[in-house]
Amino acid sequence: MEQQIRIPLFKPHLGEEELDQIRETFKSGWVGLGPKTAEFERLIAEYTGANHAICTNSCTSALHLALEVLGVSGKDVLLPSLTFVATAHAVLHAGGKPVWVDVDEETLCLSPDALRKKIGRNSACIVPVHYAGHPCEMDEILEIAEEKGIHVVEDAAQAFGAEYRGKKVGSLGSDMTCFSFHATKNITTGEGGAITTDSGELNTKLRQYRFLGADRDTWTRLKEARERYWHFICEDVGYKYYMNDIAAAIGIAQLQKLPVILERKTYLFNRYTEKLKAIPHLRVPTIHPHVKPSAYSYVIKCERRDELMAFLSEKGITTGVHYMPVHLQPAYKRYRKKLPVTEKIWQQILTLPLYYTLKEEEQDYIVEMIEEFYRHRQ
Ligand SMILES: Cc1ncc(COP(=O)(O)O)c(C=O)c1O
Repeated sequence: MEQQIRIPLFKPHLGEEELDQIRETFKSGWVGLGPKTAEFERLIAEYTGANHAICTNSCTSALHLALEVLGVSGKDVLLPSLTFVATAHAVLHAGGKPVWVDVDEETLCLSPDALRKKIGRNSACIVPVHYAGHPCEMDEILEIAEEKGIHVVEDAAQAFGAEYRGKKVGSLGSDMTCFSFHATKNITTGEGGAITTDSGELNTKLRQYRFLGADRDTWTRLKEARERYWHFICEDVGYKYYMNDIAAAIGIAQLQKLPVILERKTYLFNRYTEKLKAIPHLRVPTIHPHVKPSAYSYVIKCERRDELMAFLSEKGITTGVHYMPVHLQPAYKRYRKKLPVTEKIWQQILTLPLYYTLKEEEQDYIVEMIEEFYRHRQ
């Protein structure tokens, strides 16, 4: 393997199918929120098994929208700190107060035991994050939420295609599930997101709030061919968070590829585990037997993480750290609390390259370089 080559961390799987969809959209003359978005939403609902899917321009906006329509302002929202800052930003944007819950050391998902201890009288909502595409223990989380009478919004940014006890993430019984189609995700629309829900009431609210609070978006008004087609009523101040038809067109083509992407990434995920599990200086990911992860990313827990990262970088291999805990970010200083597992584990985690077109020989090279690093540092 040539040393000059650079293996990225993620790479989208885009091609002619997406270009065909985009061409069709250009020819239609309608590139805003319209028929392609409606079709993508129908396909997402069908795929996940949810009653409704509402597409947004990101998962960050999807999370904000979800928390906003539940009305968490002034209330506590429970979430892990080991997540992308977007999860916590959404809580603050909706006027909520982040209450951090520690994670399970093995799966790095929200720990139901830690959750029980953190729920209080002011708790309004739980936001479990399906870390690296491994679903959280949803049965326990939903049971706790029901017992306490609080809402659940899943941050499934990384978990499109994952399954929990034979059911697709997106229809596990929470109030809403938020997905991301950002450039690094299993399927991408460049930027984009979606919310799934079984509630007709939430569906209506989400559609209004993503289109500035109006009762009808432009496409719906034109489709209805009413006499006063330009007329809409805005009873609330919403957001400009909807998806456009170019993004949705890409998403439609990507969704068709999802089964092969999942198959290939799962194969490479398991292949990493087979090859790395004997190295005593690191721990491979834990997968619970009743889940099927989305194989979004491959995260090891290792000794000398920063040194290993620098060594791999020298060898042309890109790695990542997902994440520095949000409560340690300066913007969250006033919400800082002790989180023993999160604070220990984030120093050990390292994300290795994983994407559809990663070749076996490239993966072998990554494994060899990890072995070489530890061979000289016994
Ligand atoms: C756990 C998590 N939550 C939220 C987001 C935000 O998604 P988006 O980039 O689509 O806004 C991401 C994106 O990487 C994420 O990984």
